[in-house]
Amino acid sequence: MSGFKYHLWLPVAVGVMFVGLPYSISLAAQLMLGLPSKPGYKKYLEAIKPRRIYCITKAVLESLKWLQYGRLYLQLKSWYENEKNRTHYEKGIQFGRRGNKLDLYHPPGLAKSGGDKAALPPLVVFVYGGGWSSGERCVYCLLARHLTEELNATVICPDYTTYPKMNVLGMVQDVADCLIWTQENGQKFNFDKNNIVLIGHSAGAHLCVLTTLFLIDAREELFIEASKQRDLVATIKGVIGLSGVYNIMEHYKYEQKRGVEYVSAMHKAMNGVENFPYYSPTYWLEKFDQDKLKRVPPVTLIHGTCDIMVPAEASTEFSKMLTSMSVKASLYLLPDLNHTEMVTDLMSNDRRFYHVVYSCIKQEYNKLTI
Ligand SMILES: *[C@@H]1O[C@H](CO)[C@@H](O)[C@H](O)[C@H]1NC(C)=O
Ligand SMILES: *[C@@H]1O[C@H](CO)[C@@H](O)[C@H](O)[C@H]1NC(C)=O
Ligand SMILES: *[C@@H]1O[C@H](CO)[C@@H](O)[C@H](O)[C@H]1NC(C)=O
Repeated sequence: MSGFKYHLWLPVAVGVMFVGLPYSISLAAQLMLGLPSKPGYKKYLEAIKPRRIYCITKAVLESLKWLQYGRLYLQLKSWYENEKNRTHYEKGIQFGRRGNKLDLYHPPGLAKSGGDKAALPPLVVFVYGGGWSSGERCVYCLLARHLTEELNATVICPDYTTYPKMNVLGMVQDVADCLIWTQENGQKFNFDKNNIVLIGHSAGAHLCVLTTLFLIDAREELFIEASKQRDLVATIKGVIGLSGVYNIMEHYKYEQKRGVEYVSAMHKAMNGVENFPYYSPTYWLEKFDQDKLKRVPPVTLIHGTCDIMVPAEASTEFSKMLTSMSVKASLYLLPDLNHTEMVTDLMSNDRRFYHVVYSCIKQEYNKLTI
């Protein structure tokens, strides 16, 4: 009797496991995040292709790995909400045309002394990632706090308006607005407004580099006076990209290989494939003349070799390109490190890659801000 039941149960279980479950997971993901951009019913045919189902299920399961950071998340939330920690930073300062907010973290000595006019600390602007469609500044409070200590600098962590509220041009405008804010508030908050280093992670690294290049090109669509843009560029002493994307077409091809190009917000945030060059730092560099290339600040690229969200080739290729154009570039490939650890491990000094990543950042940072 039980043998009979067993024979029925096994194929059903196998069916659920290998067909029902993957189809439900990946169809739910596609309905929520985006179906293939094909006309009419063809989008559904594309959505249920076994290869796509397999790839998306795999990507969804991989993203569940985020759950292991639950404890870290609670830790940083409680740090951010603890009133005692307010001595270390200024919370929720409004800036720019869209009324986004930023937090400003003081370097260790300055919080107590109240500021020594003779030697103002340099400023680091940290732009977080989140696939151009998510992210919030409070998550990076511990990272910002450690950055102030490791670099002895003031650190600003701005929010920017992500997709679907804005496309990438809007995000670039937000980062530029944050830089304008620094020029107007250096004195008030005791930092050296002429000594700025941009650090970004993932999509944030892309935004740091792209904003710098737009400013160098004095793009009208930023709606910032050309002379002001020129002045801003002069204050940027360097850009440090962590696990970044610099060539959108190449990254799109990589997403296609993973079968996640339609569930990823990237192509939508970039206004479709036809705008990929416009949003690619590599494209602008190719267009720049010698005069503009000379104004590109030194770029440092740090990437983990175990990164499957953005492969390390993104940084190696970009570094090659910069070097070939005589822009100063440094490349650090860190073995065993993946995409998330690049930032989570900067949040607490007991994490595996804390010292490894900070020592790369420090080494380059010290060259930039002298
Ligand atoms: C910051 O907040 C945490 C709670 O997460 C607390 O343990 C810590 O003592 C606070 N730091 C300071 C300097 O008050
Ligand atoms: C940190 O920077 C300030 C000036 O911004 C300087 O006075 C201080 O000596 C520095 N501290 C360390 C440990 O380097
Ligand atoms: C990154 O690597 C760590 C340690 O090897 C691992 O626990 C984590 O799941 C990985 N994260 C992702 C998103 O692959």
